[in-house]
Amino acid sequence: MKTSSVYDCHVLPLNKIHNPAGNITIIEGVKNIPFNIQRIYYLYDIPSGESRGGHAHKELQQLIVAASGSFEVMLDDGTNKKIVRLNRPNYGLLVVPGIWREIFEFSSGSICMVLASLKYDENDYLREYSEFKNYKYETSVKF
Ligand code: TYD
Repeated sequence: MKTSSVYDCHVLPLNKIHNPAGNITIIEGVKNIPFNIQRIYYLYDIPSGESRGGHAHKELQQLIVAASGSFEVMLDDGTNKKIVRLNRPNYGLLVVPGIWREIFEFSSGSICMVLASLKYDENDYLREYSEFKNYKYETSVKF
């Protein structure tokens, strides 16, 4: 089994239909993003200086969109890290399974919208970093 890496996580450009009365972006599961959407949730009213996330998922795929404002997402595959800044509602960050993420530097009034490939399942979470590291070790290629 090949373990996932931060380089499997990409910022995907989404469509944008321009209109003088305001733009619209449409996201359809499988058509615009590589999974079926089973759940949508969003973070808002985030106090200044707060961070969210701080966990990984075993199976869940997500698309993270700055529906309003901006924030930064730190991705960590246990070996490599990268930080992605999201600040436009027509771009989404694809986060594959097995990636530790932290979201921070939320601008005032920002909205972090998350499209998820699966329903909520607490058993899919790796909430302790040590548990995440063990999971990555167990699922990596053994030579
Ligand atoms: P969590 O995913 O830990 O939040 P974040 O990564 O943004 O810091 O979820 C926070 C709480 O909300 C936790 O008690 C679980 C609950 N929750 C649900 O019940 N259903 C959901 O779909 C999500 C995303 C969270």
